[in-house]
Amino acid sequence: MNDTLTTIILAAGKGTRMQSSKPKVLQTLAHKPLLAHVLDTCQTIQVDKTIVVYGFGGDQVQAEMTDYSVSWVEQTEQLGTGHAVKVTLDELPQTGKSLILYGDVPLVSAETLTRLKQANVDGMSMLTLTVDNPFGLGRIKRDDQGNIVAIVEQKDANEQEQAIREINSGIYCVDNALLHKYLPNLSNDNAQQEYYLTDIVKMAVADGIAITAIEPEHEFEIEGVNNRQQLAQLERRWQAKLVEDLQVKGVQFADPTRVDIRGQVNVGQDVYVDINVVFEGQVTLGDNVTIEAGCVIKDTEIGDHVHLKPYCVCDQAQIGDHASIGPFAHLRPQTQLGKHTKLGNFVEIKKSTIGDGSKVNHLSYVGDAQIGANVNFGAGAITCNYDGVNKHQTVIGDQAFIGTNTCLVAPVTIGRTATIGAGSVITKNVEDNALAIGRGRQVQKDNYQRPVKK
Ligand code: UD1
Ligand code: CA
Repeated sequence: MNDTLTTIILAAGKGTRMQSSKPKVLQTLAHKPLLAHVLDTCQTIQVDKTIVVYGFGGDQVQAEMTDYSVSWVEQTEQLGTGHAVKVTLDELPQTGKSLILYGDVPLVSAETLTRLKQANVDGMSMLTLTVDNPFGLGRIKRDDQGNIVAIVEQKDANEQEQAIREINSGIYCVDNALLHKYLPNLSNDNAQQEYYLTDIVKMAVADGIAITAIEPEHEFEIEGVNNRQQLAQLERRWQAKLVEDLQVKGVQFADPTRVDIRGQVNVGQDVYVDINVVFEGQVTLGDNVTIEAGCVIKDTEIGDHVHLKPYCVCDQAQIGDHASIGPFAHLRPQTQLGKHTKLGNFVEIKKSTIGDGSKVNHLSYVGDAQIGANVNFGAGAITCNYDGVNKHQTVIGDQAFIGTNTCLVAPVTIGRTATIGAGSVITKNVEDNALAIGRGRQVQKDNYQRPVKK
């Protein structure tokens, strides 16, 4: 197959300036390792083979990337970008093309890479950008006709070359045949005594190859991370982009700079998001959802017209239409709330189903329970689901009324329309329509004299 696509991801840099025990490419942006951003992007375009060049901390990097199919190649000594690609040649197909990417340039988009690949018509294409401050980067040299003739590194550039503002992103699409031909011939006769990958441009030009350049849609796509400041800046730029995408879909943010998206958010119309909300993993929001300040929502599906009051935490929950939740509610994994359910403050729900129209309004814990429709679960009532070793189920029928401060000692079943008196400890099943009371009787001693201080 002549059109196979390989990606070569350079990730051998130690990242000294991060001041970290972790290799740089494992630092996270939007809660995901830098390298995983690049690998995920590669998965959305048709890549046949992915080669990652690693150096420092290779075991750590490989251990975190086991979800991906990668050919790992070690570069024991960092002798330059050209050398880093050269060490992959044994792994690199003879035909087809390669995209050359970087583990610390996380946000290059699939769309840009697709365009870059299409731009390679004669053997080589590259991603460049004209910037205000090109200092430190390789400059693109063009002839009078505007054809690319070479890349000159900052340290090798004369004054005239330093004035060029078109810079090399370092990202290319190159025919594998050319990489096999040129890389063994690189020399390190330059200011840094490194094997420059950029020298393949000169070599291609000498072979009469027309090199095409395209620009990315966003500048952040070619930005690398070398220190914590750059990482934080890139995070903000990325967050701004994610927020903008959601605004385009109709979401209103109280303040677009005070929200974090660490995953993917699917939205309906007229969603309102107040300040300091964090989304993680896969989140789905229906139409007319209101999320008030400080909520943390992870891997959760929220229906239409749902109202999350301030400071709710939702993790792997499903929330039905018209539910009203919080403030300060905690929905833990496998929580399923029906339509028109109502949860109040300081309520924790875990691995439980709560039927349509039911209410758990104040200070309750519901774990491993199946609660029917239109149940009133009173203030401070609790499922005692754990005996110290095992978890047990609580089942509550429709329309049941669980009195305030009840302990439901599981396993236990409360029938339909049953009523539990306040303060009860319920250890036995309760029949439909029955009233159950399980508490000490009230005692009264008339004219009681409290102890007095001597
Ligand atoms: C390189 C380009 C420069 C471009 C710039 C964009 C060269 C010679 N220069 O410069 O034209 O403007 O990127 O940021 O290519 N790496 C390895 N092994 C090595 C050397 C580097 O894996 O032996 C990796 C690093 O981890 C890093 C990337 O390659 O992710 C770039 O290396 P770096 O030294 O930063 O390249 P620059 O000199 O900045
Ligand atoms: Ca660099």
